[in-house]
Amino acid sequence: MSNQTTIQTIEPHGGTLINREVSAQQRQHWLEKAASLPKVILNAWSLSDLELIGIGGFSPLTGFMGEKDYLNVIEHVHLENGLVWSIPITLPVTQTEADALNIGQSIALYGEDNVLYGILELTEKYTYDKEKEARLVYGTTEDAHPGVKKVYDKGNVYLAGPIHLIHRPKHDAFTDFHYDPSESRQLFRDLGWKTVVGFQTRNPVHRAHEYIQKAALETVDGLLLNPLVGETKSDDIPADVRMESYQVILKHYFPKDRARLVIYPAAMRYAGPREAILHALVRKNYGCSHFIVGRDHAGVGDYYGTYEAQTFISQFEAELGIQILKFEHAFYCKACGNMATAKTCPHDRAHHLHLSGTKVREKLRNGEPLPKEFSRPEVAEVLIRGLKSSR
Ligand code: ADX
Repeated sequence: MSNQTTIQTIEPHGGTLINREVSAQQRQHWLEKAASLPKVILNAWSLSDLELIGIGGFSPLTGFMGEKDYLNVIEHVHLENGLVWSIPITLPVTQTEADALNIGQSIALYGEDNVLYGILELTEKYTYDKEKEARLVYGTTEDAHPGVKKVYDKGNVYLAGPIHLIHRPKHDAFTDFHYDPSESRQLFRDLGWKTVVGFQTRNPVHRAHEYIQKAALETVDGLLLNPLVGETKSDDIPADVRMESYQVILKHYFPKDRARLVIYPAAMRYAGPREAILHALVRKNYGCSHFIVGRDHAGVGDYYGTYEAQTFISQFEAELGIQILKFEHAFYCKACGNMATAKTCPHDRAHHLHLSGTKVREKLRNGEPLPKEFSRPEVAEVLIRGLKSSR
């Protein structure tokens, strides 16, 4: 595979892997100073953005976006400096909160648990047009879209400026699977993987996922199973149940030295095509050479077409610096006795079993068994047990 990009050449987005985490000494300094600083409380979504900026997942961002970057991103899918970027990373507050803050101040960023997670060097505060953001980023202004609803619900002013990460949000249940981008890069080197395919998911791994992961694994050295564990909508399967199911499928159905599970601690936007680009760039920062975009990537309801994310990301492929592996809608074909797509199966639709995260969730909710064509039995067992105990 002489033409394949290798890990050595997988540059982080913008060329430098950002690290905004403070040293122990600086942490002490900020902790002592914090009481005298103006305070902003971050919700779970903003906190996960702070973490991802801090650990370099959102390289080249060093803080929350200023207005020029924000407008360029929503209008032109690029940062001001010309780098491709698709989703605004911004810190919303109410007008009243913003009025109490002055440009040039250091702002103490607390979580809802009253822990000091970060400092923002406030360089800008600006108002924005929520409908415009909804239309350009999510492709709709309907508040039935969960990402759009978040836009309408949040404060009217964005705060911007570089951040310092003081404390990392805890991912207690997932400590073994928490890697910074610099650490995942090291992990790949240690494993001797020169090419790595990143896989985003917010669902348990079903048979279609497994099929496209393994199709990709036939041509690259390793799979980074990188589930999103930040905020998701309430009917998605909780991250702790999913994490158990991922461990089970890797244990039973993947060779030990070909796949690794690492959490992606972000909030889910459900922004379909736009989010596919963000997902790919972040995985590049984690050190992946390839990224999978399948059917209705990061979609919700009927807001996006089946291949809209693939068509959209194709426009930017030359600039992404990570190879996009696009897969058609995969299904189980009873006549083939196997997983397949329209590209590989000659049989009539009547033979096809279509699976999706939504269908798996519906069956679980209704207490129906998950057929083996949908889900590996070991995975189904974890999901049924996990959902019973989380009710
Ligand atoms: S996502 O919101 O995180 O994208 P999901 O966990 O369902 O949702 O999908 C993870 C990845 O698998 C995405 O790239 C998605 O396009 C792909 N995918 C999901 N189901 C299928 C399917 N049946 N056929 C092909 N690709 C699929």
